[in-house]
Amino acid sequence: MRSRLTKTAGDRKDTMIKIAIVIGSVRPGRRGPTVARWVQEIAGKHAAVAGGEAVFEVVDLLDFGLPILDEPVPALFGDYRNPHTRRWADTIAGFDGFVFVTPEYNHSIPASLKNAIDYLFAEWNDKAAGFVGYGVAGGARAVEHLRLVMGEVKIADVRSQVTLSVFTDFEPSDPTDPGAPRVLRPGPHQEQALKEMLDELLVWSRVLKTLREETADQRAVPA
Ligand SMILES: Cc1cc2nc3c(=O)[nH]c(=O)nc-3n(C[C@H](O)[C@H](O)[C@H](O)COP(=O)(O)O)c2cc1C
Repeated sequence: MRSRLTKTAGDRKDTMIKIAIVIGSVRPGRRGPTVARWVQEIAGKHAAVAGGEAVFEVVDLLDFGLPILDEPVPALFGDYRNPHTRRWADTIAGFDGFVFVTPEYNHSIPASLKNAIDYLFAEWNDKAAGFVGYGVAGGARAVEHLRLVMGEVKIADVRSQVTLSVFTDFEPSDPTDPGAPRVLRPGPHQEQALKEMLDELLVWSRVLKTLREETADQRAVPA
């Protein structure tokens, strides 16, 4: 008889680690996509990506058009009624970890990001997250709030984080126009901070993927 944790060739798992870079803000003129592109560029140079062991994809909340939470049943029960919820759930279910790119709005995260998190439960569980915050104070207070939320949806958040200052890490594309889009020019220490965060995130995402697979195996084998 097979032991609960014995693997056969047929059981071989997909070993690729998939990380979503989630853009948390949705307003016109937002800085989020610029920050997400930078994260994806630096992540693309990581040895795990170069070696074909990990992949990073941008997930933009704007593409999902999620209304303010309109599900009648709490996400904990997984009884999703609306097509927009199922599409969002299918997307998040496909990832092993997350880089949340979040600005600070009134000392917290944007409502759009909290709303998107609130829509789901199981799809977040036993996965890992790292943070890239930005704002007047580097988005630090927003990320502290986000860490509290992570615990409730069973996401393990890594210690290292990036804190981009809207004063020193961005420049206007046109200095004569105060409304001109901002260009990201992160200081050299920011890239180092991002690399450290990505290292931690990839290790935790891999370990938690193994945990999820072994837990699923144990549920699948009859006692
Ligand atoms: C509604 C709102 C509230 C904000 N509150 C804060 C804040 O409390 N602390 C802070 O550091 N920056 C704050 N900011 C500045 C934003 O962090 C900054 O403008 C950032 O670029 C906004 O992100 P976005 O461009 O992706 O929307 C606020 C911006 C907005 C729009």
